[in-house]
Amino acid sequence: MRIDDAIAWAKSQLKASTSSDVDAKVLLCHALDKPTSFLFTWPEFELNDTQRSVFTDCVKQRAKGKPIAYITGIRDFWTLTLKTSPATLIPRPDTEVLVEQALACASGFQNEAIDICDLGTGTGAIALALASELPKSNVLGVDFIADAVELATHNATLNKINNASFKQSDWFSSVEAGKFNLIVSNPPYVETNSPYLQQGDVRFEPDSALTSGEDGLEDIRHIIHLAPSFLCDAGALLFEHGFEQGQAVRNLLVQRGFSAVKTVQDYSGLDRVTLGYWKN
Ligand SMILES: C[S@@+](CC[C@H](N)C(=O)[O-])C[C@H]1O[C@@H](n2cnc3c(N)ncnc32)[C@H](O)[C@@H]1O
Repeated sequence: MRIDDAIAWAKSQLKASTSSDVDAKVLLCHALDKPTSFLFTWPEFELNDTQRSVFTDCVKQRAKGKPIAYITGIRDFWTLTLKTSPATLIPRPDTEVLVEQALACASGFQNEAIDICDLGTGTGAIALALASELPKSNVLGVDFIADAVELATHNATLNKINNASFKQSDWFSSVEAGKFNLIVSNPPYVETNSPYLQQGDVRFEPDSALTSGEDGLEDIRHIIHLAPSFLCDAGALLFEHGFEQGQAVRNLLVQRGFSAVKTVQDYSGLDRVTLGYWKN
């Protein structure tokens, strides 16, 4: 099987998907362990038996709907390449909006040696992006799934980041009562009976990373209630949330006593990140 034939075959297997062309090429690069440019440079390259077998297996998994990032085991986020696992969510591009907003908040502190806590760290995506941009900061990422903590720790090593550490904790339960300059979180925020759970990649992602009670806000409510005890003066709390939850999250922050509360839109123009500042 040549490269051009392999792509054509994969596209025919994945025809139900709108991303069949991209998916076929990503999976072929994975099977060949080559960059995309190789596919265009050597369309007549013949796959060996191992490459062919890995490729056909990957395409079959994708045809059943399995997310690309779970098949290849990696996903790029910010400037990092992260290992993924079914123990937690696959990092999404829109979460980079939370990183951008956290960096904007961080710039308000004169001293760059700030303390940051990432609640529900998963792959460590947010924690590691912030740690890489703020090398003088100390970042703590927590997750209540042990495999996620192990994964995030591995991703720190993979990306040579040594100012981030990870621990298992049910939200703040095992976090020492420190005073963080920033607390960031992309918690579970989908309603338990949402039809969205039956679509696309989320069908393969763990419920523990997705759902949060009937209105999707249980975890956000819990974190907002406890966060003030863990924030320093003028510290900021930032959430990613569902596109219809901006008003509700703003209300919760204002009711708890946060100030300068605002919502920021994602790359599709939808409400995605809400933040507020704490005054001791
Ligand atoms: C939506 S995922 C976000 C993962 C990662 N931060 C990201 O943005 O890609 C939510 C994460 O919160 C974790 N989580 C859920 N409930 C938790 C709890 N009670 N305490 C700590 N982490 C929790 C899940 O295991 C999951 O990794």
